[in-house]
Amino acid sequence: MYQSILTEIDASVGIVTLNRADRHNAFDDVLIAELSEAIEVMAHEPTVRVVVISSTGKSFCAGADLNWMKRMAGYSHEENLRDSRALAELFRRVAQCPKPVIARIQGPAYGGGVGLVAACDIAVATFDAQFALTEVKLGIIPSAISPHVIAAIGERYARRYMLTAERFSAAEAYRIGLLHEMVADESGLDEALGEIIEAILKNGPNALRECKDLIAAVAWKPMTPEVIEDTAQRITRVRASAEGREGMGSFLEKRKPNWVL
Ligand code: COA
Repeated sequence: MYQSILTEIDASVGIVTLNRADRHNAFDDVLIAELSEAIEVMAHEPTVRVVVISSTGKSFCAGADLNWMKRMAGYSHEENLRDSRALAELFRRVAQCPKPVIARIQGPAYGGGVGLVAACDIAVATFDAQFALTEVKLGIIPSAISPHVIAAIGERYARRYMLTAERFSAAEAYRIGLLHEMVADESGLDEALGEIIEAILKNGPNALRECKDLIAAVAWKPMTPEVIEDTAQRITRVRASAEGREGMGSFLEKRKPNWVL
């Protein structure tokens, strides 16, 4: 039983909901530990093929809980470091989850909230959602989230929004690549997510896992002979797999592959 999140599995979709609405779903040690564990559980649960991260209340996530951050600053270096590692590990688990992870953003996302959005594979928000990397305004830095945010919006926009701490709109987040889609309201969010999930569930579960791993292995790498060889090795392995044979065979035989119910 969790204290700060809710979890549910519905028709192959694992839903993890931040449920600390009175604190705008800000991350404290409990929320970080629970969210991290839930992502791991969804990653290993065989009935789950896609994961959604959503939240209750008016904000998606107000980033780090500043009471907790301040408390941590007074701890020993070792305790402080252990805690910082737990936060970095949370974002890594989201980004490297072997299943696609979708962010459902119904309100403001600040600091670590932007990091959580960036770590997800796909992000959909309402038009009125707002974003900000406010850390420097608070005398701190967006450290744990930086690999994910820079991967999502690039170094150029990271320089602007990490250095100014300005708020930016959903339209701007969409323009710079943090969001994939914007919708009018929460029912639009459910509709958009429904379409994305339907598309994902038509795809081979192993192919999805291999594809996420491929993107992570190739992104940001120069096109060296090693990278090219790695891509050849990967398709060699995947097309010879049972799922690869079934997927290509079902297309040629004009039938559904065996993973589509
Ligand atoms: N950590 C701890 N408490 C937070 C918080 C955070 N990140 N964000 C909001 N809260 C608390 C507020 O202190 C306030 O507490 P109080 O009721 O005891 O005074 C309560 O949540 C409500 O916040 P409030 O600012 O009054 O609500 P709002 O609807 O006007 O604005 C936010 C909501 C999220 C836009 C605003 O609170 C905000 O900007 N928070 C800071 C977000 C941030 O910079 N995060 C990055 C941290 S690295």
